[in-house]
This record gives sequence, structure tokens and C-alpha cells, in this order.
Amino acid sequence: MNPGLARLQPYPFERLERLLAGVEPAAGRAPIALSIGEPKHAPPALLVEALTAALGALGTYPATAGLPEFRRACAGWLERRYGLGGTVDPERMVLPVNGTREALFSFAQAVVDPRERPIVAMPNPCYQIYEGAALLAGAAPLHLPPDPAEWLALPGEVWRRCALLYVCSPDNPTGRVLPPGLLGRILSLAREHGVVVAADECYSDLYLDEANPPPGFLGASRALGHPDFEGVVVFHSLSKRSSAPGLRSGFVAGDPRLIERYRLYRTYHGCAVPVHVQRASIAAWDDDAHAAANRALYRAKFDAVVPVLAPLLALNDPAGGFYLWPEVGEDDERFTRELYRRENVRVVPGSYLGRDAGSGNPGAGRVRISLVAPLAECVEAAHRIRHYLETRRDD
Ligand SMILES: Cc1ncc(COP(=O)(O)O)c(C=O)c1O
Repeated sequence: MNPGLARLQPYPFERLERLLAGVEPAAGRAPIALSIGEPKHAPPALLVEALTAALGALGTYPATAGLPEFRRACAGWLERRYGLGGTVDPERMVLPVNGTREALFSFAQAVVDPRERPIVAMPNPCYQIYEGAALLAGAAPLHLPPDPAEWLALPGEVWRRCALLYVCSPDNPTGRVLPPGLLGRILSLAREHGVVVAADECYSDLYLDEANPPPGFLGASRALGHPDFEGVVVFHSLSKRSSAPGLRSGFVAGDPRLIERYRLYRTYHGCAVPVHVQRASIAAWDDDAHAAANRALYRAKFDAVVPVLAPLLALNDPAGGFYLWPEVGEDDERFTRELYRRENVRVVPGSYLGRDAGSGNPGAGRVRISLVAPLAECVEAAHRIRHYLETRRDD
């Protein structure tokens, strides 16, 4: 068997189920789940209509490279979103994927040769798929310091042994958005040491300040004088942007040499994106109005929830995504279990999303709150969390 399998950590939601097993939530309070990051807003009608209209394609095997129209729609969105000056060549720089999760995982299989470079680096806390991708590619996951500015100070020897660096901005779970200067410094460091950058930008269209969309790694590459995006691939998804997690649709874009090798890998892996999914996706990537409306829905939730919690919780200040990542002033597993028992609200203990890489688990004492439920439920949950905080005891 692949020895990496034995080293996989249980998934955070499995651990949450175990933590809450046997706990009886208070009677009379309807359950509210703010645990899984699964968008609950309706997907745009234009996506559903395009999907239904394309069902005739069920009789066709899709090509790994995708439809030319799909690649053009993705390149067009990248150009509109990031102002890339026409540098994205849809023929050589874009590939469809079945959501970013499978792509973030399989990209490591294509890129990593652990005999030459045995390390895959990732943020801490992070989306757990990066860790599993590293392990099953035969590499050792390196959980980086929580502050990305500190990554720049790691010894060159570490980076020379590193094959792949995962970065996430806007970040799950912290909501952090990396500023352009830091993106550039991370990219320069990676380039200096021959490290491939896998930039998970699946929350790129969910941000709080409408006037300041988060910058991305393709823009950073161009700003450094590399319009060919050497050494960097970005991962984008319709799951969050268009509230369509069940569509399983995303794309990767960037360095044409990496894209070509990865396309070859995917041909054998057999994970081409179905034609009807691509047709629906074209409609979604071509339209920015529904993404703006979706953003406004999340913003309304932050605006309603934060004032309820801020007087009692040390909240972070997320710039993107749909998570709150507060310090809770007690053990995060205990908080999660007690909140469920007394208030019937589910969140995720922060320590399940982080790793102790020598100086403690950066998620300890925090929880992740996903503002995915409808506005009224999020507000109700915020009041219940507040009630729990006001009445909790040390027993
Ligand atoms: C940081 C991050 N990356 C990637 C994904 C995967 O999203 P999808 O596969 O639906 O595109 C998620 C989903 O929650 C995520 O939080």
C-alpha cells in the first residue's frame, strides 16, 4: 500500500462528528450548522439554464483540455478580474478541473519528485487537502509559520528541498488576504529556489471591500516582469463565486509548461470535465453581476453578525471568504462541544485546521464559523453564541 495513506490525518469533519457524538443538544433550539464551508445561496439562474440546455452533450466524451470556449471564458474572467493586459493565452495556459479540491490534490502528483525535493510547504492553519496531497505524493508536509511574512526568513536550504508551495488568499480559515507586495516577495523567493507555487484562489470573488478585490498570483507574476507566469499556477472555482459546490467546476491557469505536463497527467487520471458542466461554467464565468450580488449577501451577514459578537469575542478582521476565526477564551474543543450542547450551533474547533509545527497549534483556542446559512439563521446563531459566552461557566 502507499505508505502515505497511513499518515493521513482524519478529516476535520470526521473529528467534529466524533467530538459531538453522544452530546444531546438543548431541546427547543433548531440546529444551525456553521461548520461546513458549503455555500447555501442559490446558484444564478443563467448557470442552471445553461446546464439544462447542454444536457444533450451526455453522449460525448469530454477532452481533458476542455472546450476552447471554456478556456476563453476563464481567460476572459482572469483578464477582467485581475487586469492582466491580455497575457493569458487560453490555448496554453488554462485547463478545466472538477472543482479545485481534486486539482489541488492531483497537481502534487504531477509536480512532485520526492527523490529530488522531498518537501511540500503549506500555510498553517490550512485546507487539509494540501497535506494529504503532499503525503500521497511521497513528500513531507512542511507547515509554515502562521504569519506568511515569516516564510521569507526560512533558510534557503529548506526552500531548495521544497518542490511545491501551497498558498491560499483569501485564506480559509483566517479570511486573510495577502497584499500585492507580499505576493511578489513570496513568488520571487519561490522562483529563486525553483519552487512551484500552487495558489489556491477559490475565494477570490468573495471579499468585503467592494473597491478592493484581492490581488492574485498571476498579477504578481506580471508585476515582477514574468507575463509567462513561470513557476506559478492559480486555482479558481465556481463553488464559492457562484454558490455551485455541486457543479464541481473550476480551472487552473498559469505557467504553460506546468499546464502542459499537468494536462498529460490528467489525461491518464481520467478526470476531464463533462461538456454540460463546461457549458454551464462558461455562462457563469462570463457573468460578473451574480458574483457581485453573492458578495453583497455575505457582506450583509458580516455586517449583521460582527456587532453581535464583537463585544464578547476577540474577532479577526477577515478581508475575504465567508469565515470568522475568533479566539474563544477557552479550549476550542470544549467551546465547540458546549456551544452545540447548550445552543445547538455547530462550528469547527480551530485546532482541527492547524498543526503543531513546534511552537503550538495556531488554531488552538479559536473556532471557525462559516457564514453559509441564510442571514436570519446566521444572526440567530450569533445571538446564541453570545448567550453561551454570557452564561458560560468554568465548570
Ligand atoms: C481553501 C479551499 N480550497 C479549495 C476548496 C475546494 O473547493 P472546490 O473543490 O469546491 O472548488 C475549498 C472548499 O471548501 C477551500 O476551502
